[in-house]
Amino acid sequence: MPTPTQLNHPDISSEMIPEIDGIIAAHYKTNGAVIPVLRLCQDIVGYLPMVLIDYISYGLNLPRSEVLGVVTFYSLFSLIPKGRHTIKACLGTACYVKGIKEVMTRISNEFKLKEGETTSDRRFSLEAVRCLGACGLAPVVVVDQDTHGSVSASQVKSLLEHYE
Ligand code: FES
Repeated sequence: MPTPTQLNHPDISSEMIPEIDGIIAAHYKTNGAVIPVLRLCQDIVGYLPMVLIDYISYGLNLPRSEVLGVVTFYSLFSLIPKGRHTIKACLGTACYVKGIKEVMTRISNEFKLKEGETTSDRRFSLEAVRCLGACGLAPVVVVDQDTHGSVSASQVKSLLEHYE
């Protein structure tokens, strides 16, 4: 495992480094610290780039594989940058029957964005989820905290253009 002495990554500013060091220093003697440390560091950077995983592993004196295992197990953590807005498209049965696949395809084509990815300008991330509990509104797309029901493929562009 590399032993990083410096966090060198375009998404990690020099102001973030003392904060990250402080989090590691506050937790490194605590059992089970890896989840809170990852969560706090992700809150600072926005996601968990690999160099940060190595840094945390080194700081907590844990194998990289163990830290990476936690990151990949919990959907809360992300190894890729998130967009400024998260689009959640429901692939539950009711939404599927009502045409969410066409909506997803239109989002993908319109924004060059596949499921699980983020646009290159980091405007949007796209996630597929299972039943959002609003089946009466199917097909459902949630953007950040906003629930949009009865969405059709032809509405995708106008629906998303408000999210800069
Ligand atoms: S199936 Fe989509 S909200 Fe229930």
